[in-house]
Amino acid sequence: MKKILRSVLVLLISIGVTSISFAGEGMWLPLFLKSLNEAEMQEMGMRMTAEDVYSVNKGSLKDAIVHFGGFCTGEIISDQGLLLTNHHCGYSQVQSHTTLENNYIKDGFWAASHKHELQNPGLFAKFIVRIDDVSKQALKGVSDKMTEKERQSTIDKNLATIKKAAKLDKFQELEIKPFFKGNQYFSITTVTYNDVRLVGAPPEMIGKFGADTDNWVWPRHTGDFSLFRIYANENNEPAEYSENNVPYKPKHHLPISLDGVSPDDFTLIFGFPGRTNEYLPSDAISQIVDVLNPAKISIRDRALKIVDSAMRADPAVKIQYASKFARIANYWKKWIGESKGIKATDGIGRKEKLEADFTKKVNGNKKFKVKYGSILSDFKTQYKEIEPYALMRDYHGEVLGRNIEIMRSANYMVSLADRYKDNGEEEYNQFKDRLISRYFDGFYKNYRPEIDQKVFVALIEMYDQNAKMEMNQPIQALLSSLKTKDYNVLAKHLFENSKFTDQESMYALLGQNPKTAVTQIMADPLYQFAKEMSSAYSNNIAEKYSAINGEIEKNQRLYMKALMDVFPDKAFYPDANSTLRVTYGKVDGYTPRDAVEYTPVTYLDGIIEKHVEDDYEFHVPARLRKLYDLKDYGQYADKNGKVPVCFIGTNHTTGGNSGSPAIDAYGNLIGLNFDRAWEGTMSDYNYDSSICRNIMVDARYILFIIDKYAGARHLIDEMTLVHPKED
Ligand code: ARG
Ligand code: GLU
Repeated sequence: MKKILRSVLVLLISIGVTSISFAGEGMWLPLFLKSLNEAEMQEMGMRMTAEDVYSVNKGSLKDAIVHFGGFCTGEIISDQGLLLTNHHCGYSQVQSHTTLENNYIKDGFWAASHKHELQNPGLFAKFIVRIDDVSKQALKGVSDKMTEKERQSTIDKNLATIKKAAKLDKFQELEIKPFFKGNQYFSITTVTYNDVRLVGAPPEMIGKFGADTDNWVWPRHTGDFSLFRIYANENNEPAEYSENNVPYKPKHHLPISLDGVSPDDFTLIFGFPGRTNEYLPSDAISQIVDVLNPAKISIRDRALKIVDSAMRADPAVKIQYASKFARIANYWKKWIGESKGIKATDGIGRKEKLEADFTKKVNGNKKFKVKYGSILSDFKTQYKEIEPYALMRDYHGEVLGRNIEIMRSANYMVSLADRYKDNGEEEYNQFKDRLISRYFDGFYKNYRPEIDQKVFVALIEMYDQNAKMEMNQPIQALLSSLKTKDYNVLAKHLFENSKFTDQESMYALLGQNPKTAVTQIMADPLYQFAKEMSSAYSNNIAEKYSAINGEIEKNQRLYMKALMDVFPDKAFYPDANSTLRVTYGKVDGYTPRDAVEYTPVTYLDGIIEKHVEDDYEFHVPARLRKLYDLKDYGQYADKNGKVPVCFIGTNHTTGGNSGSPAIDAYGNLIGLNFDRAWEGTMSDYNYDSSICRNIMVDARYILFIIDKYAGARHLIDEMTLVHPKED
């Protein structure tokens, strides 16, 4: 019977029926696992209970999961607080300890003992103690008649009351966040440890193997992991860094399975997904695919091409721009995949179908019709109205905020001068010192004005030609005062006459007394240009955008409520908001396009296949090639004598899930989440189990690298290795 059901389901999925919620979709709240998910999870193969995954009464998997630095996930894998996360999550820590003599990025780093582990100021690991539904108290006194402002101030007061009444233990903190577009509120009790030390990281040619070419791509061969350790005071409590601190003793640590995965195996991802938007109307999705993504992609296209050719021409530029390039390229590539995926799976058509169902139900019920009858037509008007503003907002952000490097500096100089005018000398000095140490020192180390000037010319031209609502007025004014139509002349004028493009003249300027400095800053042509561009933005775009967006958010809140009302039998999960979630699925390949079929596991053989001598993305370290030649794999090969490297599954993940553990049916670690497959990155708006796949490093590859490549056997010894499939 089950078999028949399954084939019916597969058939329905393959002919594109969308009313069933697919196994794999959803970022679920741990506290509702029992009521909403446990049965399905067990049906899919899980051998644990919901209580084993998340419990506030006894030790559970959740006690091994941390929010790593607030931007990634990490998990505890030994009884001495050893923490596993991605290489790209710990990258800036590894970089901060790297010098020319000790090049940990290039060579990797392995602490020989506890006292060699390296301190990381500012880095934290946050545990979740419990999550509670506080919707009733949070929304007390809130009514539909209120303006948004009244509503927010009522809620703010309620939240303050809840926080005051909360009974917290020493070191505990309480956060309260809106879920389901503000229809519900949950409080989250946390404990944060601030002494988190670097223990180990593979060389970049393993941890970042394939770099940007392979980013978002399956088949993948990246060993994207690094190791840290949480330290505590002698009572196992959080403490600032001290030599007297000792390794943290966790309530739970994840055993690591040596048995690996097979297709269809149950997988659970436990972590902190950052942001998704699954309940947007079709109008919003069309706007993303037809208007906003193409604009952002085209801007980054131009900028990346310029930087790429400069990097290829000069190895010194390559070093200076590698990390900036990777950051810009990451989302550029993601947006392309996202738009393709929405088209390939008819994401807009599927939303329209849902909306048609919704409308039918609403029209068939008087009460619904009064409350919810105008939601979709309101969306239509609102999205039409916001479109030019949203486009210019993205344009402005991409061109002036992210891709022309000097504009960011110029904007800081605008803030600095404002600081002086508004708050006086003392605050000016404080802000200036912080700017220099936290921004400008690093900025100039990796800055080539001649490259940035080329980017400036290309992007300002695009901006000028695509601007709406007089947003290009400052560009036009400057061109005509220079009596030219040539953007090169304009760029040359700004770059050559500004003191901002060169470290020496900038620091000389900042070294003057505040009054003189501010006078000179305000006379600088880049200051003036930045100031005019940003006032054009605030006058023409910002206010109007946020007014319409406020209406959209309000309507979206109502739509969320309506969906839950109108489809009472469907289980809903809230959009990601950097809180702890469970997603579950299974190991599974996919078909990205006609006649191409992907299997779900890659092997060390594939790394060797990809090797390109001295290539900055695909050079395989000689030591790893030697281990391969000798087949020196220890206990980390599979039954066929091959070392698995990465695998994919149907788990619904997003940015922030990096570093999340992939957990098997029994609660053991089998892998480490670090990416998604390109064709399915639209899962942030529209999950589709036919092509949405998360990418994980196989735990056995991680162990193999630690043990056989790095020789850090002492780290393996403190872990708990298990054979769940044999037992
Ligand atoms: N795509 C992954 C994520 O979104 C990895 C990014 C880091 N790697 C890179 N080549 N940029 O974060
Ligand atoms: N690499 C992403 C991260 O840093 C995870 C990939 C994704 O967006 O799913 O969180």
